[in-house]
Amino acid sequence: FKVPAVENEPMRQYAPGSAERQGLEAALAQMHKELPFEVPCIVNGKSIKTGNVAKQPMPADHANHICTYHEADQATVSSAIDGALAAKTEWEAMPWNDRAAIFLRAADLVSGKYRYKLLASTMLGQGKNIWQAEIDAAAELADFFRFGVKFVEELYQQQPVKNSPGVWNRVEYRPLEGFVLAVSPFNFTAIGGNLPGAPALVGNVVVWKPSPMATYSNYLVYKILEEAGLPHGVIQFVPGPPAEVVAQAIGHPSFASLHFTGSTFVFKKLWKDIANNLDTYKGYPRIVGETGGKNFHIVHSSAEVNNAVLQAVRGAFEYQGQKCSALSRLYVSSSLWKNGFKDKLLQEVAKIKVGSHLDFGNFMGPVIGKPAFDKILGYIAKAKDAGGEVLIGGTGDDSKGYFIQPTVILSKDPKSITFVEEIFGPVLSVYVYEDADYEKTLELIDTTTSYGLTGAIFASDRKALLLATNKLRNAAGNVYYNEKCTGAVVGQQPFGGGRASGTNDKAGSISIFYRFVSARSIKENF
Ligand code: ALA
Repeated sequence: FKVPAVENEPMRQYAPGSAERQGLEAALAQMHKELPFEVPCIVNGKSIKTGNVAKQPMPADHANHICTYHEADQATVSSAIDGALAAKTEWEAMPWNDRAAIFLRAADLVSGKYRYKLLASTMLGQGKNIWQAEIDAAAELADFFRFGVKFVEELYQQQPVKNSPGVWNRVEYRPLEGFVLAVSPFNFTAIGGNLPGAPALVGNVVVWKPSPMATYSNYLVYKILEEAGLPHGVIQFVPGPPAEVVAQAIGHPSFASLHFTGSTFVFKKLWKDIANNLDTYKGYPRIVGETGGKNFHIVHSSAEVNNAVLQAVRGAFEYQGQKCSALSRLYVSSSLWKNGFKDKLLQEVAKIKVGSHLDFGNFMGPVIGKPAFDKILGYIAKAKDAGGEVLIGGTGDDSKGYFIQPTVILSKDPKSITFVEEIFGPVLSVYVYEDADYEKTLELIDTTTSYGLTGAIFASDRKALLLATNKLRNAAGNVYYNEKCTGAVVGQQPFGGGRASGTNDKAGSISIFYRFVSARSIKENF
């Protein structure tokens, strides 16, 4: 059998008065009425309430929380690992079409029955506005599951190209020996689905530690997979405490792989911890990670100003700049800057409304929490200390929610902190270069940070596009021409970067699945 062609989940528009708008509003109202929810650990399909309770506050209304959740204790993590290993034999022996059906059904539950609930949990819990929640918790999540099935089908078909007479050569793609640890971030509910989902799809068992700041939406994702028929034990849902859960999993002799999205600092630490434990494992763990970015747009003098400005505003400020792919460094030709770019940029940023997601007219919501709020304002202060000029924004208000105004900082020093370190908030640093220095500016972009995630080149002159593409070969794993550096679509732009930004294994493509299988060649003589 062959899985029929899959399509990207169509995005809904939520026009005022439409049935979909009413559906979403009803889900939000219902969730408001019912919260806070209580989220247990789930091990072998059973809810475990350890009594070590933590809260997930709502970033737009931090006096209230969307859920309390039970943090795993040592015994719970142990039984999660043992249970996963016990579930492994049956799961990997399950015929591929049955495994595929579970994920196709889960995709349908995401796009249908649970769409508004997933959106509401992502809006309330992670501070996304309706549009950002839609592209994440509805579209991308469904796409990861549906396209995942197609990619794995294609992977299984990758077979040796030659048989000699009387011989049948074949390759079997076995899951890894042991369990996978998935550690997922707060900023995409869809990544919460993909980090445990992708390894499970190829027959692995997974211990999943979700982000403390996305526990509720991630719990719903787990429940959807369960409703779709995922056997108990295949994915164990084990919310924090983060460092302890991860250390215990990595310290286990059957640890086989880490599937991680989060900070560069944590990823490097885990890599070193894994290296230190190497002698205790059966094999070499597969380490797959996507981490930070310091993403750029370069605007050449031949670029179209309106488009370059609008794309910069979206790239930098959608979801408050809290996408790993978000635009952070903007390099603009001085002739364009003086002739309309600056004015248009400031006009567009001034139009941005910041506030609660419950007003659908707000383009920006809160940042995720108090540490993020303080850190972002701290970076703005440091940029000013280093001579940066705040052209607009620069302030925040955390009296009710963690709101920060969209901020544009102009700096004459392109090596100052605001161009180097990841801020992960609504702060856009601008450097204006002399038109004649385009090539030199490309070198500057390439050497200013340790990251290599996303970037965009704005030019109508093809030579300028190609020069930048060549010069910035390793500066971004995802490059966009005349479009913002965020918004990779599953099946269309495989996503991930190199350098300090990760292992560049390309989520949303077939590549990532190779990392979670161990191929076995079989030669049979007739
Ligand atoms: N994959 C997400 C994007 O491209 C992070 O924006």
